[in-house]
Amino acid sequence: MKILKTIEEVQAIRKTITSSVGFVPTMGALHDGHISLIKKAREENEIVVVSIFVNPTQFLEGEDLDSYPRRDEADKKICELCKVDYLFMPDISTMYSKEEILIKAPNKSYMLEGLTRPGHFDGVLQVVLKLFGITQPNNAYFGKKDAQQLSLIMQMVKNLFLPINIVACDIIREKDGLAMSSRNVYLDEKQRKEALLLSQSLYTAASLISKGELNSILVKRRIEEVLKDLDIEYTAIVNREFDEIDTIELKNTIILIVVRFGNTRLLDNIWI
Ligand code: PAJ
Repeated sequence: MKILKTIEEVQAIRKTITSSVGFVPTMGALHDGHISLIKKAREENEIVVVSIFVNPTQFLEGEDLDSYPRRDEADKKICELCKVDYLFMPDISTMYSKEEILIKAPNKSYMLEGLTRPGHFDGVLQVVLKLFGITQPNNAYFGKKDAQQLSLIMQMVKNLFLPINIVACDIIREKDGLAMSSRNVYLDEKQRKEALLLSQSLYTAASLISKGELNSILVKRRIEEVLKDLDIEYTAIVNREFDEIDTIELKNTIILIVVRFGNTRLLDNIWI
């Protein structure tokens, strides 16, 4: 595995590759969720590129940019074990200049995640577009865990006519059901136990739906009962285009929840 730091290095190598390139963008602190994306990329491409870049433009003032977990050495080993060909680890000054062309995510990006984190998705799309430009992948791998991010990236690729296939990957969970996240390390023991209610509430919702309940309000109410002792930020039932829906459509619905544990926000969702 080769570690690349500069745009020039990546571009020089990219020019020589004629077979398919699979790309997995990350912010590091790699866990099994990231690894599942890398493995899928490994299966489906000749060349696998992973990036690790904690992107400042997607963090809002007061968020955890400075304390975001950084584990470069462990991450390098993980990538090596996963047979990654190129690991791109740029500095901030490599990725950003003083005067940036800004990306404006569509209005929909200001609901749900974007309501609490206005501008977050502008930063995500900006960095992902840059990373796509640098690595020029054939296939790029994203987790369904960040469903709204995935949906906006798909829309960007479509609207900007980028010749990239976006591959949506299933959510990887701990054995007890907690969706894996680099931010889970912020939880104390009590919060870690309480966090199990997130996946449980979604499974309860899925079982209610499988019994024929398609009314979003009633399904949401059931989720909120399971989460009643926690600090719920939002529960939402949307279709794949991220419009909120009153009636659940089988194979076209995503149920999303966000719960706060102090300063830590945990996201989870289930695709129906
Ligand atoms: P990061 O949070 O590091 O996540 C990188 C990728 O891993 C994302 O596509 C995310 O959805 C996926 N992922 C995280 N946890 C997962 C899990 N439990 N199961 C499956 N996939 C999971 O998302 C970002 O970084 C950034 O916003 C980025 C796209 C890199 C742009 O900076």
